[in-house]
Amino acid sequence: MSFTVAIDGPAAAGKGTISKAVAAHFGFAHLDTGLLYRAVGARVRDGAEPIAAAKALRAEDLEAGDLRTQAVADQASRVAVIPEVRAALVDFQRSFARRAGGAVLDGRDIGTVICPEAEAKLFVTASAECRAERRHRELTERGEIQSYDDVLAAVRDRDQRDRDRATAPLLPASDAVQLDTSDLSIDEAVARAIEIVARRRGPE
Ligand code: C5P
Repeated sequence: MSFTVAIDGPAAAGKGTISKAVAAHFGFAHLDTGLLYRAVGARVRDGAEPIAAAKALRAEDLEAGDLRTQAVADQASRVAVIPEVRAALVDFQRSFARRAGGAVLDGRDIGTVICPEAEAKLFVTASAECRAERRHRELTERGEIQSYDDVLAAVRDRDQRDRDRATAPLLPASDAVQLDTSDLSIDEAVARAIEIVARRRGPE
């Protein structure tokens, strides 16, 4: 039986950590859909044409080691405004969402466009400052040196591009439960998310 959990929200709000933990808790598969756009963005940085790169995307491309850099994230949000790029990635996401045994997908448009029928929807947010602080720490730990101010500016830029685009903008589904993680520890945020999904799932 399928059960889809859609987890959307802006960059560095905690979606990734929460999604992985929710998937592990319920034994569901997890797809970080940002990786699809990052993989296309990385190809475009290497000189590919965006729509052709999206159409040719293979599951192995999601394993590339350099997809987590700030430069690839920026390029991802630039290719993500192109409707044909988004269209090329829809089928893969929808079939993942409907796989037997349950699936968690995290992204920007999962609850609104990819899986409007998802059984559970969360919209995870946090203040831009808080998200920039987390992203800055994560980049520093990986050896990518950037000032906090530059990271905050990049977070704000990407938020604006994601919110203002005409196709599938970042926006909570009307039936999504909002979870603001600004003042929550990781454990608290995960516990709340699990509680929300468990309520939608009903008794086992
Ligand atoms: O989630 P992540 O930060 O890895 O996503 C990188 C970029 O990919 C986002 O800034 C956004 O522009 C795009 N994206 C999207 N729709 C999704 C997931 C990511 O447009 N479902």
